[in-house]
Amino acid sequence: MNNEFIQLNQVTKNFKDPASDIYFQALRGIDLHIKQGTLSSIIGPSGAGKSTLLNILGGMTKPSTGTVIVDELPIHSLDEAGMNHYRRNITGFLWQLPERNLLPHLTAEDNITYSMEVAGYPKNKREKRVKELLHAVGLYDRKKHKLGQLSGGEAQRISLAVALANEPKLLLADEPTGELDSETTMEIISYLQQLNRDDGITIVVVTHDNRFERMSEQSFNILDVTIAGLRRSVKSDGKDWRDVVREEISVVNQFGQVKIPNRLIEKYNISGYLRFVEDDETGRIYIEPVDHN
Ligand SMILES: Nc1ncnc2c1ncn2[C@@H]1O[C@H](COP(=O)(O)OP(=O)(O)OP(=O)(O)O)[C@@H](O)[C@H]1O
Ligand SMILES: [Mg+2]
Repeated sequence: MNNEFIQLNQVTKNFKDPASDIYFQALRGIDLHIKQGTLSSIIGPSGAGKSTLLNILGGMTKPSTGTVIVDELPIHSLDEAGMNHYRRNITGFLWQLPERNLLPHLTAEDNITYSMEVAGYPKNKREKRVKELLHAVGLYDRKKHKLGQLSGGEAQRISLAVALANEPKLLLADEPTGELDSETTMEIISYLQQLNRDDGITIVVVTHDNRFERMSEQSFNILDVTIAGLRRSVKSDGKDWRDVVREEISVVNQFGQVKIPNRLIEKYNISGYLRFVEDDETGRIYIEPVDHN
């Protein structure tokens, strides 16, 4: 598993509840392995720990326990200078709210340039890249517009250009389409896919929007502050991942516990007790509901 770009090992994050001063777990036992150049989504309900996880990946906050390796850097143990370098040079961040991505008094192009300045992107390359980025998100003609003069979808596309200004290896997006309508959401999704396909950028999106499930090569399911399972494309040689079948996988945690996918719970009316049946001939294990009355 050494060619992995992102490796999280048993990551937890404890926060103090401001009302009671008692610590609680916002993340528990997170193991995550993501290869370079993949497009992944992490999907789960509100409060599941999505933003906390993304902030850890982005070097914005440190885990309470566990290790986080990105691009061979031990993010969990970097000092402040190391973290700054990681944030400015390796990652790009796209937030849900345009106000968090864009400075309102700067034009679209100046926002992109400013992001390059902060990252120390070479001066002589800036002008050309700003142009390229504005074209890439299809908004060159809006380069003089400020935040208040852009539509929600346009603002998010400019935000994407800003997040990419420093040529990050890793793009992290927290609910990037939360404020957008259906059509504009699909537009942003297709920009992310294009970016991943053409430039090979590793992208991780956290969202509660199930539409991201099929648009990503692998989609992790975050539930009750841990990763319960994933769906991924099963590749066969030469085929693009978009054309192939999806498989659903569950994570076995350190206690040997597994979350049965809700779809199966409903389909087979699973509740109460289960029996594991070993088939020695095939080497497979079956589960079947037990009548416990
Ligand atoms: N700095 C903090 N201090 C204390 N508690 C926090 C802090 N940040 C987050 N939490 C809590 O941790 C839990 C997980 O929060 P998180 O923001 O990661 O959820 P989320 O999955 O992103 O939810 P949403 O979909 O609503 O954005 C929540 O219960 C939240 O209240
Ligand atoms: Mg969140």
